[in-house]
Formats: sequence, structure tokens, C-alpha cells
Amino acid sequence: EGDAFKYYSEGEWKVSNSGKSVPIINPTTRKTQYKVQACTQEEVNKMVESAKTAQKSWAKTPLWKRAELLHKAAAILKEHKRPIAECLIKEIAKPAKDAVTEVLRSGDLVSYCAEEGVRILGEGKFLVSDSFPGNERTKYCLTSKIPLGVVLAIPPFNYPVNLAVSKIAPALIAGNSLVLKPPTQGAVAALHMVHCFHLAGFPKGLLSCVTGKGSEIGDFLTMHPGVNCISFTGGDTGIAISKKASMIPLQMELGGKDACIILEDADLDLAASNVVKGGFSYSGQRCTAVKVVLVMESVADSLVKKVNEKVAKLTVGPPEDDCDITPVVTESSANFIEGLVMDAKQKGATFCQEYKREGNLIWPLLLDNVRPDMRIAWEEPFGPVLPVLRIHSIEEGINHCNASNFGLQVKCLIPCHQWTNKLEEQGCIFTRDINKAILISDAMETGTVQINSAPARGPDHFPFQGVKDSGIGSQGVTNSINMMTKIKSTVINLP
Ligand code: G3P
Repeated sequence: EGDAFKYYSEGEWKVSNSGKSVPIINPTTRKTQYKVQACTQEEVNKMVESAKTAQKSWAKTPLWKRAELLHKAAAILKEHKRPIAECLIKEIAKPAKDAVTEVLRSGDLVSYCAEEGVRILGEGKFLVSDSFPGNERTKYCLTSKIPLGVVLAIPPFNYPVNLAVSKIAPALIAGNSLVLKPPTQGAVAALHMVHCFHLAGFPKGLLSCVTGKGSEIGDFLTMHPGVNCISFTGGDTGIAISKKASMIPLQMELGGKDACIILEDADLDLAASNVVKGGFSYSGQRCTAVKVVLVMESVADSLVKKVNEKVAKLTVGPPEDDCDITPVVTESSANFIEGLVMDAKQKGATFCQEYKREGNLIWPLLLDNVRPDMRIAWEEPFGPVLPVLRIHSIEEGINHCNASNFGLQVKCLIPCHQWTNKLEEQGCIFTRDINKAILISDAMETGTVQINSAPARGPDHFPFQGVKDSGIGSQGVTNSINMMTKIKSTVINLP
């Protein structure tokens, strides 16, 4: 369609032959804000073809030159922070300031990747044979890191720019090419970000951006024989992708039920601030959002009071006004959240605020006295609704996190996929006792544990990973570069 944003392939902006487009609904107005091209499978084939060709010469481009181009892209991205942030506001209702921060953080990530890549890819290993029993010193082994080929990058709606560049930059510095499939909500922001890479002057075909319907091109992309690696961040679709993908490296970051454990000796003001920040920033639509508070009964009243005082101060409204709580991304998401709230109501949770919703906008809500028979104790709302479970021992908290004892209790009440493997990606503990904190951290089956702070992915060079159904592999700049390369050995045999 003519009025839809063009997709990017072979270094050019193109209109799809399908003659169709996909609408992007503004979560605030609930009207069509933009349209993007509904690309066809043939168009995907072309992108993968050109990515294959471009990758061959890119892999031979000196590392310092690859880094130079990435630094250039990072600078252009930062210069374009306003128009890109504008798209984030309109497509995903990200509060204005956070939208700008996302772009700036992305520029920093790209630059850091360039620097880190130069360091870690500039080194290899040298091994000698006589360190292994029975061998003479007749073999010298040289190892280096080589690219995988074509990387398929699929970021989620909540960070369409940042979680795209966190895949693009490591792939490119390592000598790979990429096909990017942005989320529909966030596709226009992603296309603008890709334009910055275009302006930086990367070779034609090295990076492409395909837009369209998941039903038409989703499986086609993830099962494409020309794809050599998939980096995905998002929801349960990732589980399906991991089952269908062929024998290629996967980097998966899915959601989870991130728990916040608060002990009796915690600094309750600090804990309350972090519960609010962790639970309600970007209206709870972060995979690292606090999704369940497990607080010791003896301090629960005091904590809930402090959290409520802070919740009362959150501003609610449109992202343009930089409100704290903005409309959730889609109507179906709002309906899902409402379903969890109604279930909790019916089963007797304490509503600390009145439940209020207008369109996709849901007012922040703390649910106290949540019990394990309520869906919200286990399911991920991805919205501004936070359950509090009162615990009576540390073991009870850990068991809930690891979905063991409680999980068994609710076995018959909720479908097993919602609790057996869906562990938290990140957890956090509030206590003044470092020994206890470490013991709890060790006991929690989770990718990362924060002590005395809300979960967060950043700084972006820290390792970041989920366990079981929350993810495969580890992210963070260094881990992503390593994941997008493989080891090549050359052995010199002496006479
Ligand atoms: O949901 C995306 C996840 O990666 C969270 O990132 O930076 O909000 O902790 P962040």
C-alpha cells in the first residue's frame, strides 16, 4: 500500500508486492496511527539471499572498519532520538521521557558493542599438543571466533529499538548479516532505527527489515533454511519457535514471574520504592518487572502502606504527557489483565485501590492478601497490577519462586504450562543480611537475582538470562557477541 511505511531490503526502501498493509493501532487513541507493508514469503527469500551474499564480504571487512560503521550508526541514532521517540509514544504508548531514553541507551549499546567486539574478537587462542597425555609438541592449534552467517532478530513491542539493536550490533560487529522482524507495535520506530544504519552506510543487503503478518511470514522466517541463528525476545511464541527451529544457535528471552522477596529486616522505604519502580514502570510491561511481591507477614502491613502511598502519587494518562502509567499496548492485553483482576476479586484478594479502566488505560493496582489459588499469583499480567503474597518463612518464599510446594497445590486449578516451567527471569531480595541474601539467591531458580534493588536488564553489558521457559542462552553485549560467533581452529602439524 502506498501510504504504508516501506520495508527495507537490499539497501532500498520498498513497497510490498502483496498490495496489503498491516495497521498499527495507537494504544491511547485506539485508532490506526501508521501502516506497514505486509511482506510476502518471496520478499523474505530475497532478503535472506542478499543477507547471505552481503555477509560473505562483510566477514572479510576489517574489524576496525566494522566498528567504525557501528560508531557512526550509534551517533546518527542518537541524533534522531526525537522522531524515533515520537514513534514509540504513538505505537506503544511509552512515556515521552522513557522513549527518548530508550533511543539514547540504544546508541550507547551500539557503541559499546563496537568497542567490546574489537577487544574480544581481536583475540584468539594458541594451544600446544603436549599438554594432553601421550602427545609430543608436534601440533599447534590456533583458534579464532568466526561469524555464524545470517542472524534473524525478533525483538518485542516493549523495546522495539533497544532490543533490536541489542541483537543487531553484536551480530554486525561479529561479521554476521541480519534480517530484522520488528513487532507490529513498534515496527515504525524500528524502521526509523534501521534508517540510521542505512545512513551510516552499511553495505547493501547486510541488514534488512521485514514487516508483516506473523501468520504469513512468522514460521517462514524462523524455519528458513538460510537463517543461521535466531535471537528472539518476547512471549510464549518463543517456545514454539524453539521447537520448530532447525539445528541453529538460539538466544531466547521470554517472560516470567519475577518475584520480589522482602524479609523482616529489610529497609522498607527502599523496598517500597523498588516495588513501585519495578512493578509499575512502563505500566508493568517489562519482562523484568516485579510480578509478585512475597513479603514476610510481620512487615507486610507496613510495606503495603508505604507502597500504597507511592502508588497514589503515580500519574495516569497519555504518554505524550509523560505520565507514569500509560495505556497498555493492546485491547486484548487490557482484557487479559482485567481477567486476572476479576479472578482475584472473586477469590477474595484485598484491593488496595479501586479497579479502574478506560480503554487500554488501567489505573495502577496493588492486590494484597493474594493466595496461591488465584491466577495472578502465577500468571504474568504485563500490566500495572501487582499481587502481594504474605509469607511466613523464607522457605515459603523460595518455594513460591521455584513453583514447587505452591505449584503442587494449584496443580489442578491452572493449566500446568502456566506454572511448571514459567519461572522468573529475574528475582530480587530485600534484606540487610548479606549472608541470607546470598543463600536465598542461590536457592532461587532464576537467571539473575538483585539484592536490594528491583530487577533490571541494564547496564547492558551485564549478563542477562532466563531459566527453563524463560529463556535460552545469555544476553548482554559480551555474551551476545560470543553467542553470534563460533570457534574455528586451525592446527599446524610439525614434522
Ligand atoms: O522486557 C524487556 C526486558 O529485557 C527488560 O529490560 O531494561 O526494562 O530491565 P529492562
